[in-house]
Amino acid sequence: MASRLSVAELEGFREIRMIREAAEFLGIADPFFRVHEGIAGAQTVIGGETYVNFASYNYLGLNGHPKITAAAKAAIDRYGTSVSASRPVSGERPVHRELEQALARLHGAEDSVVFVGGHATNVSVIGHLLGRNDVIVHDALIHNSIVQGAILSGARRVPFAHLDCEAADRLLGETRPRNGHALLVIEGHYSMDGDVPDLPSFIAIARRHRAWLMVDEAHALGVLGARGFGIADRFGVDPREVDIWMGTLSKSLVSCGGYIAGRAELVDYLKLVAPGFVFSVGMAPPAAAAALAALGLLEREPERVHRVNERGTLFLRLAREGGLDVGGSIGASIVPIITGGSIRAGRLAQAMFQRGVNVQPILYPAVPERAARLRFFLTADHDEIQIRDTVRILLEENRRVTSDPSDLAAVARHLGRMALSSS
Ligand SMILES: Cc1ncc(COP(=O)(O)O)c(C=O)c1O
Repeated sequence: MASRLSVAELEGFREIRMIREAAEFLGIADPFFRVHEGIAGAQTVIGGETYVNFASYNYLGLNGHPKITAAAKAAIDRYGTSVSASRPVSGERPVHRELEQALARLHGAEDSVVFVGGHATNVSVIGHLLGRNDVIVHDALIHNSIVQGAILSGARRVPFAHLDCEAADRLLGETRPRNGHALLVIEGHYSMDGDVPDLPSFIAIARRHRAWLMVDEAHALGVLGARGFGIADRFGVDPREVDIWMGTLSKSLVSCGGYIAGRAELVDYLKLVAPGFVFSVGMAPPAAAAALAALGLLEREPERVHRVNERGTLFLRLAREGGLDVGGSIGASIVPIITGGSIRAGRLAQAMFQRGVNVQPILYPAVPERAARLRFFLTADHDEIQIRDTVRILLEENRRVTSDPSDLAAVARHLGRMALSSS
């Protein structure tokens, strides 16, 4: 009888096994899927030990806020834990529309619609709004969810060099189909690099080529602008100039889900046709209530936004003064420390963990090998001492890791022996 088809036969599976084997050979423990035993904020407890934590998007320190927790509990008491089917089928709960109206207000938009996942929002909306005869021009470092949506749409996908408006302008000019539609997609605050695009220039480019401009605000909401309303707030531009605002509820708003805000006709259309809305369950009431309560706190307590920016600026300045490569980060809430290699990033993250700091490495293939890094997420709740201590430890451990070169030849010999023994 023929053997059963195994996932282990996939090329990607073999690659993962190789990477794990190399890490084990180098004595680097797997840093992913760590179990946190409580709320992960500026600190977290892992394996009974307390760590200073730079691995959560809890930018405003709102996770676990009593008002948010109470709102989620009240929603459970009233509506239960699920709406059990899509909103067209199972009907609305008032909290859905209240949340959508609040998000629309924040973006100066006519309306908004929430989906159960941020990733799913991009896939479903882009995948459905564009089609075969269209073009999607996007930043080369755009989030995976946008790439997946673009692939699903069947449109021609054209990346431009990171943040480069002139390249975007030129590529849109060269590829925009005469009869099709065009979408220009950027992020408000790039999640890997902590840098920001020149929004006014991108608005002008979108208008020039009669393209929709879509801005993913996943990491901008709660962080950018004096009120934390995102990149339009930072640049002081009229948010109605952006055709499609996208955001997630999982980061500053400490819930789960995604949304699109824009003109009423866009929202109305998506609510009738976007598969991720029409054929997927409505947001769980406690998740919607938590996001709504968090939004209220963001509006009422802008000092949280100022604090996360102050913390980010301090971290960035100290790291830069110490000679670390922080890329183009503006120091709002995301600071990468680029190590220039995955092995070094893995070792540095492990060394930090052993010294009480939880920070995740970003390794190839998530980024190109020379762009491997540690990524620090700052929150409004980090204090100055935690930041100063962390950068001091980072400089010490970086010197140690740098002076201990990785024996790549030994890794290659080990992997070669492994491949021979398994063939
Ligand atoms: C830029 C960007 N867009 C979309 C998403 C997906 O959001 P979610 O994690 O809420 O599904 C993320 C997640 O990190 C992101 O960074």
